[in-house]
Amino acid sequence: MSVSLRRFERIHIHSHIKGLGVKNGEPLPVSEGFVGQLEARKAAWIVVQLIKQGKMAGRGVLLAGPPGTGKTALAIAIAKELGEDTPFVALSGSEIYSSEIKKTEILMQSLRRAIGVRIHEFRRILEGVVKKLEVKLGPHPYNPYQQVPVEGTIVLATTSEERRLKVSGNFVAELLSKGVSEGDVVWIDLETGRVHRVGRAKGFEKEYDIYGEKLVETPKGSLEKEREFIHTVTLHDLDVMHSRSGSLLMLLFGGEQREISPEVRSRVDEAVKSWVDEGRAELLPGVLFIDDVHMLDIESFSFLSRAMENELAPIIILASNRGFTKIRGTDIKSPHGIPLDLLDRLLIIKTRPYRPNEIREILKIRAREENVELTEEALEYLTRIGSKESLRYASQLLTPAKILALNRGADKVDVRDVEEASRLFVSMVESSKYLRELEESFLK
Ligand SMILES: Nc1ncnc2c1ncn2[C@@H]1O[C@H](COP(=O)(O)OP(=O)(O)OP(=O)(O)O)[C@@H](O)[C@H]1O
Ligand SMILES: [Mg+2]
Repeated sequence: MSVSLRRFERIHIHSHIKGLGVKNGEPLPVSEGFVGQLEARKAAWIVVQLIKQGKMAGRGVLLAGPPGTGKTALAIAIAKELGEDTPFVALSGSEIYSSEIKKTEILMQSLRRAIGVRIHEFRRILEGVVKKLEVKLGPHPYNPYQQVPVEGTIVLATTSEERRLKVSGNFVAELLSKGVSEGDVVWIDLETGRVHRVGRAKGFEKEYDIYGEKLVETPKGSLEKEREFIHTVTLHDLDVMHSRSGSLLMLLFGGEQREISPEVRSRVDEAVKSWVDEGRAELLPGVLFIDDVHMLDIESFSFLSRAMENELAPIIILASNRGFTKIRGTDIKSPHGIPLDLLDRLLIIKTRPYRPNEIREILKIRAREENVELTEEALEYLTRIGSKESLRYASQLLTPAKILALNRGADKVDVRDVEEASRLFVSMVESSKYLRELEESFLK
């Protein structure tokens, strides 16, 4: 029996979406996994440009449309278009209801996670190639039978300078733990003594180089230099760091602090603003995406409206598939269950139901993604199911149909497999019809 090892792959329902598929400002009919929905994609592309140009501050976007019309897919595509540097935090409206943390605290933490701070730090370092590394061993202070480095000498050189440094046992241990040996380029932080191994220097290749390591140039100029380091953190990370060091009990007993006090937050904001003024940091406003936003209640909506006006607010993208419905926590009906004053601040993007040829294209892409081969007829049959029932239901049948096909020894999914899969797993429409027919025999 042969066993085939396959890479662990997790295919998620939006894994085919790679971007908005817009070229030169125009959405292509099928591109980057996206099919149709041209107006919404073009609008989303404009939003991406506004965000990149910093012109979306204090504003938000609402993606509104019936279920399964690609609202979540659009939000994911926006995140991909913005790139890795822009924080993107996704939250579902129902996630704010927790018994341990206040709703507004969860929203606040999410808002602050969506704002990045890029901190520039200048440090003095020594950078050069290790020409010589001599280690003096001695007995371990608590275990005389064990030998440990007690001191050492290293010769560090650039193309124009060479220095012999006498170093402590701890420093040698740090070098050894980083796997540094003669012929490596390293840099050493002068303040902390931390070592970073850059790589092996050209001209110092080992005789048997089984690792095929990339070679680096020997540094030029003086050994001692100032080097810029860049760390990216979020406002929430800074809040957590500050609230930890703020309390002695936290240090002693550790544990997760649930809520962060407003004082800590305002101190963090002040610190960040002064770093920005001094040119030591940059702000990277990102996006907070709240899916199923009709799950928020009136308090959370009012909190959000206020938060959007804050100087340090991310861009807020909301999505809802509800029509005219009650705002949670009230008896007031409103479009999408969102209060009118908040709605008024949003750019609204509509998504519309798909036509059969769009459903066919999306199913083709999903089939490829899930590694399912379909006959022409099976694809037609699934497209009909997608139009009659729902796109999600049709794409959920792909993999079960493939298992049925494999079971009968075929590697291509045929109409009979789709038929059988749809008999075994009924759609929402079917299931409610069934409920209605058998209403009497179900438990009440
Ligand atoms: N235009 C499209 N092109 C490609 N795939 C799409 C498109 N629209 C939707 N999909 C895919 O169809 C499925 C359903 O779409 P999605 O989850 O984005 O709908 P939604 O509008 O968020 O629905 P809901 O209101 O139920 O949350 C997903 O797998 C999604 O990736
Ligand atoms: Mg959705």
